[in-house]
Amino acid sequence: MTFEEQWNQFVDKCLHCRACDLADSRQHVVVWRGGIRAPLMILGEGPGADEDRLGKPFVGRSGKLLDLLLSSFGFEEKDYHICNIVKCRPPGNRVPTQEEAARCRSLLAEQLRLVRPSVYLLMGGTAYKYFTGSDLGITKVRGQWIETNGCYVLPTFHPAFVLRDPRNKTLLWQDFAAVRARLEELGFLPPLKV
Ligand code: URA
Repeated sequence: MTFEEQWNQFVDKCLHCRACDLADSRQHVVVWRGGIRAPLMILGEGPGADEDRLGKPFVGRSGKLLDLLLSSFGFEEKDYHICNIVKCRPPGNRVPTQEEAARCRSLLAEQLRLVRPSVYLLMGGTAYKYFTGSDLGITKVRGQWIETNGCYVLPTFHPAFVLRDPRNKTLLWQDFAAVRARLEELGFLPPLKV
């Protein structure tokens, strides 16, 4: 099977998933946006109302800020793969439960195997918690790289958190600069021209 066929099969599996109750209330299963085989994976929590309606992650207010950060640091669509801990919207934008995250985990694991990123950016406490299994708060761990199996993982704030409290804006920008520098160091991106 070609890579494209494998990817299409994976997406199809996501679209038909009924592993948890979120399937009952969703409009769309939100799988990804950006490149498919990309060096950077950006992980959020779960789709909100806009994402559920449009079937793509980070297309609302948080997505606008994310896109501004990505374009400011010279990222092109092929460089990143944006997805979430859960692929269906938790009603009322509540945080996904442990059980929902666990049921979505095998699809996310398959996604990681196909995308094969070298750098992960975990946006927000929920992405950090469910990706690493750690209960530490995001303010404690943000900006600190974790090295695991030859990959680099950076927890940072969720854009929605920064929109609510702009005092944290500088730290989010700092973390995007660190991700850009890491990808340059690994040879995935050329030095950014300013
Ligand atoms: N917030 C998230 O965590 N993910 C999205 O896709 C949109 C908003």
